Amino acid sequence: MLFGTVNRQDRQYSLMNRSEPTLRSIRVANEEDAAAIAELSRNLLEFEKSLNGGMGQLNPWAGGVEEILKQMMRPDTLFLVAVINGEIGGYIKTIIVGHQLGPAELGFARWLLGLVESGGRRIFNFLLRRPRPSVVLSGGYISGIFVRAEHRRSNTGHLLVEAAEDWFRQHDIATADLHVLFANSAAREFWEELGYEPVSLGMQKKI
Ligand SMILES: CC(C)(COP(=O)(O)OP(=O)(O)OC[C@H]1O[C@@H](n2cnc3c(N)ncnc32)[C@H](O)[C@@H]1OP(=O)(O)O)[C@@H](O)C(=O)NCCC(=O)NCCS
Repeated sequence: MLFGTVNRQDRQYSLMNRSEPTLRSIRVANEEDAAAIAELSRNLLEFEKSLNGGMGQLNPWAGGVEEILKQMMRPDTLFLVAVINGEIGGYIKTIIVGHQLGPAELGFARWLLGLVESGGRRIFNFLLRRPRPSVVLSGGYISGIFVRAEHRRSNTGHLLVEAAEDWFRQHDIATADLHVLFANSAAREFWEELGYEPVSLGMQKKI
């Protein structure tokens, strides 16, 4: 049985499991969490690679601290972490697509970075006569989730996803998308239990 508080304003989520002494909270990640997130994100990439040999080589910087810090600066990206007994036990990475967040939510530096980046991209695409997208994409995207093996199957994954969905809802985003490897049957079961339905099926042939 779970009890706890959800404060949407400061985006702190705290829950304590009544049946075990584990103290667990879900919160927005900060720069000090980057090293732990980098480790978990590298674990996720390596795990996915073990399931899909055709995935390609991991770059040496994949899941590196510097890369995570850069991603944290992105105006469309939010990392949430599960703190379990004082340590980072899991994380989720979310991206908001097609919706510009304001300086009040992002802080001035991240907001300005987004503005410069999207303006620069538009000018670049115009000058290079790059093709324009046929469809305007918008929605929430869950681009990664990983819970340390010792903390699995005790609801941490669910709490991370619920916090991510809360974050999307706060921005009037009506859908959350993600990709999961077909071979990752545990994750497919996890997502289906959370109400996610298959939308497309990627296919591959060894040639
Ligand atoms: C997928 C993952 C995030 C789930 O985290 P979690 O904290 O264990 O999830 P929860 O405890 O909230 O949910 C557990 C439920 O998910 C499903 N599930 C999770 N692992 C499962 C497994 N190995 N086999 C079958 N079902 C599983 C079950 O429905 C389970 O409920 P149950 O324990 O009552 O049977 C975690 O297993 C993980 O980090 N896996 C490796 C990385 C990964 O695959 N990420 C997803 C990429 S799309």
